[in-house]
Parts: sequence; C-alpha cells; structure tokens
Amino acid sequence: MPDSDSKRTKRTKKIDKGRRDFLVWIPVGIFAGLAATVATAAFRFLRPAKMLQEAEWNNVAPLAELTGEKPIMRSIVAEHHAGWASTLEEHFVYVLPHKGNQVLSSMCPHEGCNVAWRAEESQFFCPCHDSYFASDGEVLSGPSRRGLDPLPTREKDGVLQVKYQSYLNNIKERIVRG
Ligand code: FES
Repeated sequence: MPDSDSKRTKRTKKIDKGRRDFLVWIPVGIFAGLAATVATAAFRFLRPAKMLQEAEWNNVAPLAELTGEKPIMRSIVAEHHAGWASTLEEHFVYVLPHKGNQVLSSMCPHEGCNVAWRAEESQFFCPCHDSYFASDGEVLSGPSRRGLDPLPTREKDGVLQVKYQSYLNNIKERIVRG
C-alpha cells in the first residue's frame, strides 16, 4: 500500500473512532442530566425536617432598620411546595415597628388584592373594592370581613424573619391555606 493511502486510512480510522466516542457520550450526558434533575428534586423533597423548617423562615430586614411610627413595606421570596414541585414566589409584607415589629400580610382578606399604605390618612387601603384598615391592620370599612393577617415572626442574628402563610379569603376566621 502506498504511503499516502496508509496515512489516509489511519486518519479515517481516527475520525471514525472520534465519532463513535462522541455517540457513546451523548446517552451518558443525557443520563447524567436526568440523574442530576431527579437528585435535586429528591433532595428538596427529602430534606431533613430541621432543614425544611429553617427554610420556611424568610429574612425581612435588619432590626436596626425597623424604627418609626409608620408601617414599613418589604418584599420576601418564599418557597411553596406542591407534591414534588417547589416554586419561589415574591410576597409583600408590612412591618409595624410601633407594634413590636409585628408583620402583616399585604394580601387583602377580602379577595386577595395587595393593600397599600396611605401615609396621609394613616390607613391601609385596598384598591379593588375599597376596604380600609387601621395602621395596626384592623378593618375599618369595606367588604373585608377581617383585618389584615398577621404572620409568625422571630428574630435571628439581629434580623427580623417571617414565616409566610396565606389564609382563606372572605371569611371572618383566620384559616391557613393548606
Ligand atoms: S380584594 Fe380588597 S376589598 Fe376586595
């Protein structure tokens, strides 16, 4: 066999081997991706109870920032679980520094719109159906059948934390959504 033919044959074999190796790695890559996805979902689902309980607490603000007579609005990102799936959702809350840093959900108990603080009237107002709430969250007027919902809080390492939960709408009692 002439020298140039031999070189060409060797090169062709090398290319074929490269293609075969590549084809072998495709299913390996797909399998590794699937395994990582399942492992991540399993980790989230099977996290130790203590870790899960800790994950329910969301930082609101350093205590040093929470001063004054007016409600302070903050946003938190809470993790919600539904079976194997978990999603992150942003929620707004109001901290009441004049009430020992009580935290109120901004969700109107009537039908769930976000209320706004009106500094000039010192009241919370819901723009959807005109419910008004006092600065401590008590309902003043409008269709809402209860005041703004308080959320569980704690202080950790100089930071106010809140456990987000939502309640059933349009009833007088506070019943946490399952
Ligand atoms: S949703 Fe707030 S008054 Fe209806």
